[in-house]
Amino acid sequence: MTRVGVYPGSFDPITKGHEDLIHRSLAFVDKLVVAVAVNVSKQPLFTLDERVALIKQTARDTVIDVRAFDGLLVDFARSVGATVIVRGLRAVSDFEYEFQMALMNRTLAPKLETVFLVPAFDLTYLSSSLVREVARFGGDVSALVHPAVQQALRQKLGK
Ligand code: PNS
Repeated sequence: MTRVGVYPGSFDPITKGHEDLIHRSLAFVDKLVVAVAVNVSKQPLFTLDERVALIKQTARDTVIDVRAFDGLLVDFARSVGATVIVRGLRAVSDFEYEFQMALMNRTLAPKLETVFLVPAFDLTYLSSSLVREVARFGGDVSALVHPAVQQALRQKLGK
């Protein structure tokens, strides 16, 4: 039996924290679908196609699929045959939102389990929004993102 996991998010842009979680997930799923949300509440820096393309350049593995999704995550998970949702927990501040989301998703799809992974210690402070902010002011993000993402940030922000 193939165990399929879905790793959803905005990925605006993908960071080394996301990459770390993707690789940790492969310890317990046979296939991981990285699901990029079409509708993110905030205005994203990167377009949907750009966010998908950057993940594809960053996470190259035959068992990783990158897909955009619209609508409810549980419906998308069902459509790709996923039984597990993977989310990262970095700090206590993440907990409340993640807990609510996991319980709502369980209400909608009782058989779909949410699994929380803790990233590598030196990446726990990292977020896409911090990366965008540092890059916007010309800071060095080379330790925080893949070189392809660094280049995309430079192009996008003209830095
Ligand atoms: O990286 P993010 O922005 O924290 O990801 C949030 C995301 C995209 C996983 C979440 O907003 C989501 O699942 N959106 C899809 C709509 C949905 O299913 N909402 C109900 C879940 S509570």
